Parts: sequence; structure tokens; C-alpha cells
Amino acid sequence: MNISAILSTYAKEAIHQLGIAPGVPITAKVSLRPELADYQIDSMIPLAKQLQMPPRQLAEQVVEQMRKNPPFSTMIESVEVAGAGFINIRLNNSWLAEAIAGLAEDPRLGVALQAPTHIVIDYSSPNVAKEMHVGHLRSTIIGDASVRTLRFLGHNVTKVNHIGDWGTQFGMLIAHLEDVESHDRLTLSDLEGFYREAKKRYDQDNDFSKRARQYVVKLQQGDEYCRRMWQQLVEISMQQNQQNYDLLGVSLTPADIRGESAYNEMLPDIIDDLLARHIAQEEQGSVVVYLDAYKNKQGEPMGVVIRKQDGGYLYTTTDIACAKYRYETLNADRVLYYIDARQHQHLMMAWAIVRKAGYVPHDVALEHHKFGMMLDKQGQPFKTREGGTIKLSELLAEAVSRAKRLIEQKSPHIVGADLDELATIIGIGAVKYADLSKNRTTDYIFDWDSMLSFEGNTAPYIQYAGARIHSLLEKARLQGLSWQETQGLSVMTAEERAIVLAILQLEERLNLVAREGMPNMMCQYLFELASLFSRFYANTPILAEADGEKRRNRLYLTQLTGQVLALGLSTLGIRVPERM
Ligand code: ARG
Repeated sequence: MNISAILSTYAKEAIHQLGIAPGVPITAKVSLRPELADYQIDSMIPLAKQLQMPPRQLAEQVVEQMRKNPPFSTMIESVEVAGAGFINIRLNNSWLAEAIAGLAEDPRLGVALQAPTHIVIDYSSPNVAKEMHVGHLRSTIIGDASVRTLRFLGHNVTKVNHIGDWGTQFGMLIAHLEDVESHDRLTLSDLEGFYREAKKRYDQDNDFSKRARQYVVKLQQGDEYCRRMWQQLVEISMQQNQQNYDLLGVSLTPADIRGESAYNEMLPDIIDDLLARHIAQEEQGSVVVYLDAYKNKQGEPMGVVIRKQDGGYLYTTTDIACAKYRYETLNADRVLYYIDARQHQHLMMAWAIVRKAGYVPHDVALEHHKFGMMLDKQGQPFKTREGGTIKLSELLAEAVSRAKRLIEQKSPHIVGADLDELATIIGIGAVKYADLSKNRTTDYIFDWDSMLSFEGNTAPYIQYAGARIHSLLEKARLQGLSWQETQGLSVMTAEERAIVLAILQLEERLNLVAREGMPNMMCQYLFELASLFSRFYANTPILAEADGEKRRNRLYLTQLTGQVLALGLSTLGIRVPERM
């Protein structure tokens, strides 16, 4: 159910009935002051400006009309003008009660499917032969939450892991693999070390670097041996990354990989095409595109190189090809890229060329869902003590072991395999939630203590609410009490009302997250619902309530809250334990 959409439609109808064609969007938004209203419409102010009349006067007329229409007194309890011309709406309690009846039986919890579109999501996208680091964690987690949310809403989502599997570094990696492989394959378990070693030899050993350069050329020419060695490097890296994905509960699989190398064959044709249409030009042997929107300090158009003097292509060239492919071949209606904010200009330039060439029409959105860096408590980039990058696998292992210690203190009765399982759910959940709950556009401070806290907007807090609900319902079941026989639900206390309203706002929240690609909005929603429930739980007898009708009502609300929390967390890729 989308209350906001329903109320917006009612308001629009009333405006039409007054003979006004609204030239601005009319939207009812969740009120920021719940003590005054459930929803507020502030569109009368811009509309009045257009009509050149006082906003309050327009709002009065609209309210008057809304009061004459049927939803008034059934769905709408009161509709009033406030302040500068806002329309405040309060919903009717019995309508709210009716709206949640039966919801617990619906696996979608009343959330409608949207008209399906095809959305391609580019995320995670680590570089081969380097271990995944914290920078890839953000893209991986946020991108996956976006996949889950859009799929739940009914869209067709194609996940793409655009791995960095191409480039001149593969020459030295192949040469090094060749030497290492014959005596010690296991060295590759330390990919970071392998890469460093290869680089060192490349810089210091002439014969080695000569061989490496030959391999680059051979690889590009499709030489079978080099292709096979390259393939091995990609596979070994991705097998290791897959372990991170699995532990993280991220839905990426090997089938989602389509790396930079996959676009290689498209590149010569794109260069020819751009040259032939005078979008690109040759300049001292390289191929360059000048974009009006990008100027250097002197105010001259800035050139984007798309083919180097030596004939090599660039990261930008690949991104031009991949946008083209996603539209032309995958038929995407919308393409989302979850990439570090530092790559924003790179993407904007690649897409400016894509649009100029008409490779992707303007009604197909290319969206950079950028995010900031992960910082340590001192506000510095998150690094090891020695200044190296932190391996994702080590970070995740630490999350699980910290969670384990925490559970051992709090719930010493949980042991063995149960303890391991719970530690994974809580530790991984905490890392994911810490990231997802921040507005992704800014840098964020990675802090173990706050993410594993049972208080505040954290995964453990919400998971704990879910686990408590689970055990409460279990207790009710053992006592033969059920929410299923609820007849004639009613909304009684202010606390119950707030929970009911929040439950009914799930769809609006999901739609918002889907549109903006901002999972922190879902986190905020779940945190508020869990907080409302905790207060309700602390102040209201549930199992101990003597009045059977009230007890069933409260059990039903408990049940529904548990379902909404679980569903919301599932769109974030976070699990709820049954106990903790
Ligand atoms: N491999 C890149 C990196 O590690 C990210 C690729 C993102 N996707 C893209 N289409 N450029 O920074």
C-alpha cells in the first residue's frame, strides 16, 4: 500500500474539481511532525504562486473540496490548513486497523510490484590479481542492497561485476606466474604478495620486463598460451573473491562477471566510428575527444584520450563500450554504477562521449551512485598500521571474531556451531549495516565499537528486536495463544498507532530507496520501527494482557513488526537470528 500516492491522488482530484489544472506535482509526504499530522502536502505554495493567489486561500479551497469527497471520514480523519498554506492530513484509526488486517498472511506485506523495467547494476568490480580491499566493500554491499530492493519491487535486474581483468600489468603477472607455478602454486594464496613480487621483478630485472612486455602484446593478439595463463589468474582471483562474497551474503556469482576484457573487441570499431563522425580526432598519434563541458584552467576544451600513441586503449574507452553494450545488447532501461566518488569525473566524461555519439539515448539513465571513503577513527583513510590496504578477508574475519567475543559475554549459553553461526550473522550484519546506514555520498568512519553496539542505529539493535519478537511469539505459541484468530483489529494506544502507520509505510520507503539508491533510508526506517516496538514492548503488557482481544491485537502487531523488520533487512542482505 502506498498511502502517499493515494493521498496525492485525492488532493489532485479535489484540485481538478475546483477547475484548476495543477502545473506542479502534488505530493503528500510523511509529516515530519507526527504530533500534528500523519501526512503533509506542501504543493499549494508553488501552485498558488503560479495561480497568483494567496497560498492559504488556495489551500482552504482544496481542503474544503477534499472534505466533500468520499475518502474523507473513511480513510481521512481530518484535513486542515496549517502555517503558510500546508495541508495537514490525519488518517482514521479504523481505516488503519483495516489496512493491516490480513497483511501478515501476505509474503509481500502489501507491497505492490512496480511495472517491471530492466536495470543493469555495476558493482563490486575489483581488480584481478589484487586482493579486494575496503574500497570494494562499499560498492559490493551497497550495490547488492540495490539489487535486492529493485528485484523485490519486481524489476528485472542484471548484476554486472565489471572486474579489472585487462591491461598491461598482465604481462608481468603472466611472466611471474610462469616462474612461480612450476615450483609453488600456493604462493597465489597471497595475491597481494604475488603482485608485489611481479612488480619488483619487472622494475629490477631486464630480462623479466622484456618477457613481460612480449606477453602483453601476445595476450592482446589472442595468443593461446598467454590467454590460458591470464585465464588462470582471473580464475584464482575470482575464486578468492567469491569466498568474500559468500561470507558477506552478497548475491554475486561467477555468472555475473563481465570484466573489462569482454569489451576489448568493441574498441577498434568505436574508435573508427568516433573518428569517422568527427567526434574524435587524431592528435600526435593518439585519439582524443574534446568535450565542451570540460575545460582546463585556461578555459580551453579538455581532451579525453581514448587511444594512446602506442595503440593501447584506456579505462575510459572500456567504459564507453560497456555503456553502449548495456543499452544495445542488454537492453537496459536504466544503468546504475556503484563506484567510488573519486571516479565521478571519469564516468561523466565517458558518458558525455557516449551521449554525444548517441550510443545510449537520453531516456535511458546512466546513474553514478557514488560513495565516499572509509576512514579510521582519526579521520584518515582506513589502512593497516604499516600503511597498507586492509584485506577484505581479514576485516571480515575480525568482524566475526569480535561478534563471537561479544556473544560469549552476553549469552554464554550459546556455544559450538550455534555460536559460530550467530557470530557470522551478527559480525557480518554489523559491518554491512554500518556502511548501509550512512548516507553513501559522504566518507564514513569505520568504528568497531559503534557498529557492534546494541544501542543506536546498528544491526545488532535491530537484529535484537527481531530476535526478541521471535522468542515472544514462540512463547505465545507454547501457551496456545495465537494472533491468527484476531477478529476486528483495532488501533488503541498512540504507540500502537505509530507502529501500524510505520508498517503501512514500508512500500513508500522501498520506492524511495529504489529511486535514489540510498539504502540508508531503509536503515533509518527499520531503526525507527524497532525503536517504536521497543518502547511498546517496554510499556505494554502483551502476553500478560488479560483481555483476550487486546492480547491478540498486540500479538498481531508483534508478528507484523517482526515480518517487516525481516523483510526490510532482507532487502539489505542482512539476516535476523532467531535468538541472540
Ligand atoms: N575496477 C574498478 C576499480 O577497482 C572499478 C570498476 C567500476 N565499473 C566501471 N564500469 N568502471 O576501481
